[in-house]
Amino acid sequence: MSPFVESVVAAVRGVVGQGPVALHEPAFQGNEWAYVKECLDTGWVSSVGKFVDRFEHDLASYTGAGYAVAVVNGTAALQVALTVSGVRAGDEVLVPAMSFVATANAVWHAGAQPHFVDSDENTLGMSMPALEAHLDEVVEMREGKAFNRHTGRRLAAVVPMHTFGHPVDLSSLAAIADRYGLAVVEDAAESLGSYFDGRHTGTFGRCGVLSFNGNKIITTGGGGAILTDDAELARRAKHLTTTAKAPHRWSFSHDEIAFNYRLPNLNAALGCAQLEQVGAFLAGKRRLAERYETAFADLSGVTFVKERAGTQANYWLQTLLLDVDHAVYRDDLLAALNDAGFMSRPVWDLLSGLPPYRESPAAALSVAQSLAERIVNIPSSPGLADG
Ligand SMILES: Cc1ncc(COP(=O)(O)O)c(C=O)c1O
Repeated sequence: MSPFVESVVAAVRGVVGQGPVALHEPAFQGNEWAYVKECLDTGWVSSVGKFVDRFEHDLASYTGAGYAVAVVNGTAALQVALTVSGVRAGDEVLVPAMSFVATANAVWHAGAQPHFVDSDENTLGMSMPALEAHLDEVVEMREGKAFNRHTGRRLAAVVPMHTFGHPVDLSSLAAIADRYGLAVVEDAAESLGSYFDGRHTGTFGRCGVLSFNGNKIITTGGGGAILTDDAELARRAKHLTTTAKAPHRWSFSHDEIAFNYRLPNLNAALGCAQLEQVGAFLAGKRRLAERYETAFADLSGVTFVKERAGTQANYWLQTLLLDVDHAVYRDDLLAALNDAGFMSRPVWDLLSGLPPYRESPAAALSVAQSLAERIVNIPSSPGLADG
């Protein structure tokens, strides 16, 4: 093992103790049992119930969004958020090439084509200067709408994603989106508890989405939510995700082809209990980040990724970034960390290189390509901070 790899493994061990240690584990230490038991005791386990309403209310008040619509997962949330924000079949939607596959899949499920954009070395999210330069080159404006001059398709929306909980530059994005008439739909799946300029991520665009998958800051087992300040978009999102059923005490009438994307009451019960503890989860993650930051401060060849000025990160996945000349060590490092029982992983393969998206339009992606070779996520569970 090279001295560099050895020193990184030792630094992780110094923070988290002996392995095995998971990448990110859920913690159920609050009212989870009581709320789930209440669903079982009352029979309200399925598509409606008081915990669904309460979870939507609690999410809106926690994030500051006008409305929250709870759905079955983050991917479905993003698909419907895009649709209600105006994305139509045959459109293109700008997304970061460096993201989880769901970001592109949701665009596809909404009937549109993902169009990949480069990343920013500092935020790890979409690069705003690269986005602007790319749009200047490919866009032809017609009656206030942006069209891709190469494919002829309308560019309808842009999806910023806050990688591992680090917010992108949402104020520059707002100016660019305004100039090109693009709807902003935030993929805030990873950024519950992250803020840009004091405002919660997911509340800047026309819509934003959250995920409550098992590995997220809070979990409902599986689940997601659409956030919006627009009452009509919220009403439409709720309608489309609940089979477009016309409200009536007994009749079953549906006014369009829609989806069964409802979050069951059972899952929402878990979500209510988890959201009560979100402050403690975030505080644990911040303490863990501080300990990693100290452990890696004097190590050359690698940087612990810290939150940027003007932002508050939730530190969902704790992240190491290897220097360019240390990228060669990445696979040895992943092997050594995992062998030592410290579950660690690289960032996702770039979406633009995946078989289903190889033909999709893309900007130059040199920064994303470099980042994809240098990122390593290390154990991130909030409880590790005090272990
Ligand atoms: C960036 C990003 N977008 C979307 C999703 C999709 O969420 P879900 O797994 O709840 O469908 C996830 C996580 O799983 C994600 O990390």
